[in-house]
Amino acid sequence: MSFDPHALDLRFEAAKALAYEAGDVARRRFLDRGSFTIKFKGPQDYLTEVDQEVEALIAGKLARLFPGDGFIGEEGAGRDPMDGHPVWVVDPIDGTSNFAHGVPHFCISIAALVGTEIELGVIYDPMVDELFAARRGAGATINGVAMKAAATRHLKDATVEIGFNQRAGLDKYLRLIGRIAATGASTMRGGSGALGVAYVAAGRSDAYFENFINAWDCLAAIAMVKEAGGYASDFLANDGLRKGNPVLAAAPGLKDEALRLAAIEGLVP
Ligand code: IPD
Ligand code: CA
Repeated sequence: MSFDPHALDLRFEAAKALAYEAGDVARRRFLDRGSFTIKFKGPQDYLTEVDQEVEALIAGKLARLFPGDGFIGEEGAGRDPMDGHPVWVVDPIDGTSNFAHGVPHFCISIAALVGTEIELGVIYDPMVDELFAARRGAGATINGVAMKAAATRHLKDATVEIGFNQRAGLDKYLRLIGRIAATGASTMRGGSGALGVAYVAAGRSDAYFENFINAWDCLAAIAMVKEAGGYASDFLANDGLRKGNPVLAAAPGLKDEALRLAAIEGLVP
């Protein structure tokens, strides 16, 4: 499936402008903590009014700019694309639990794909004013400077992130941490899958593992990892776009060891 590359470049520019605009809204609301209420979609699955407000802003603007494009958003906004048109995949606030607790580590994540190609990915962290961006075939940048995955070759030397949500279950999570920590790797959890995977692209982290994650949490960042020379598992296999999937992103030299030792069930390499 192909789509006019210039039309995709235009969308890339639009996504960056929208990420800044949405990020400004999220930052303002975050700093005015009394301005929003917090609800739950499920156990430990936070939802604030700001998630919905930011998704409506992004979905509305994209529909006006590119009426033939499809849309999938974490908070439920959806639209089918016209034949051959891109589909936008948006997480209005990734790291909602951090946002709700006053922890300044969250982001806006916007990806667009045509068929199974992630054509662009944009992530904006409004609290440190960092814009991560990747366009397929044209590299990945952070605030305009090229990103490159780390040169790490062994998990024993690595710092890695292991994401968690209730959907994949606690047992699997504990077993995964056990296998990875046993290698000597230092493990962490930052609470935003989008930033966690983007940090692999930036060489700030050596790998990101999660037993189950949704497309809006990780597609933009996967585009970045690939463009930054890193390894990312085939997230879109088995209808990952709609159903979610496990994910592994890693520095290129860690790919084989990480795949073998993580042994994540259902992961398509
Ligand atoms: C979650 C975060 C978390 C990841 C979960 C996601 P949310 O998204 O990205 O780090 O481990 O899988 O669901 O709820 O903050 O938008
Ligand atoms: Ca999310």
